Amino acid sequence: MSMFAFEPNPDPVPAEERARQLIDPGFGRVFTDHMAIAQYDEGTGWHDAKITTRQALTMDPASSVLHYAQEIFEGLKAYPRPNGGAALFRPDANARRFNASARRMAMPDLPEELFLESVRALVRADIGWMPQREDGALYLRPFMFASEVFLGVKPAARYLYIVMASAVGSYFKGAPSVSLWVTREYTRAGPGGTGAAKCGGNYATSLIAQAEAIRNGCDQVVFLDAVERRWVEELGGMNIFFVFEDGSLATPPLGGTILAGITRDSIITLARDMGLQVREEPYAIEQWHADAESGRLTEAFACGTAAVVTAIGSVKGAEGEFAIGGQSVGPVTQRIREKLVAIQRGTAPDPHQWVEEIA
Ligand code: PLP
Ligand code: COI
Repeated sequence: MSMFAFEPNPDPVPAEERARQLIDPGFGRVFTDHMAIAQYDEGTGWHDAKITTRQALTMDPASSVLHYAQEIFEGLKAYPRPNGGAALFRPDANARRFNASARRMAMPDLPEELFLESVRALVRADIGWMPQREDGALYLRPFMFASEVFLGVKPAARYLYIVMASAVGSYFKGAPSVSLWVTREYTRAGPGGTGAAKCGGNYATSLIAQAEAIRNGCDQVVFLDAVERRWVEELGGMNIFFVFEDGSLATPPLGGTILAGITRDSIITLARDMGLQVREEPYAIEQWHADAESGRLTEAFACGTAAVVTAIGSVKGAEGEFAIGGQSVGPVTQRIREKLVAIQRGTAPDPHQWVEEIA
């Protein structure tokens, strides 16, 4: 028996309209017919878990999330499988990270099994929304926010947990590589802050820096550490890897100011499986510039659930601009991307038991 009662949508999007929306869904605009929802009340705990019609929420203007931003989220995908079904990739890691974020934001734990069941039940209900494209997936967005009607500054006593599903294609369209802007003015996270939590506030603070990147003709912003303004940390919504001439890789270490990406962790394992050396170590922006120019650094890529593995072609900042490799997708980036995607989509074996087939 599922923990989630099922209330089917009585008025789902007609099949023809759905098919039209699935041709080129883009990212985060096409939503399915259902959502998972559960409520938390202090004293009672989690209750009223159900899969129901995706619909607007009614909120009191004093709902505390609207004032003090107690909100966290996750992002994971259900991938289409060769047999026509769907599979999740390391959803247990998302469940654990959700609770790590919850603790940082003084929010209640969500039992891991409730997280996993919510995601599985929603994918089963909306499997008909899976885009049948090479880059297609159902992007799942679990989130939790403070719904208590109270203006005092304290952890709320009521929360809503919701999972939506969005039919998606690629996050980046077109170009084989992205260009980065190094912001000097803004930082994303400081020691003791919320950088390692997946809370909405982190994304709110990144937007002005992302706008600065666009103004300077770049696709994405890359943040440096807040203390020395020197060490490369991550992008607004992706982790970063560097590839060197000797075939080794490096990625910034997890130290509380960057998000512990599940793609990042998987790539470290896969690269080591491929016999490549991977270092988790700080890398300074001026070293990156020097290494790209000397040829010691041959490739760089961004990675995440939405971005998958995306080559970085050039980097621009106040003190100049440099190109990476041939501004195309380098061979190591390509091999790692193919290896990861093949496991996620079931066209290669899954040696680490990362994949959970669900429908
Ligand atoms: N860093 C940030 C700030 C992110 O928002 C994301 C996306 O979720 C990542 C890194 C990559 O994490 P994951 O690989 O778990 O999707
Ligand atoms: C993800 O990859 O899931 C992200 O969170 C990145 C962005 C869409 C916020």
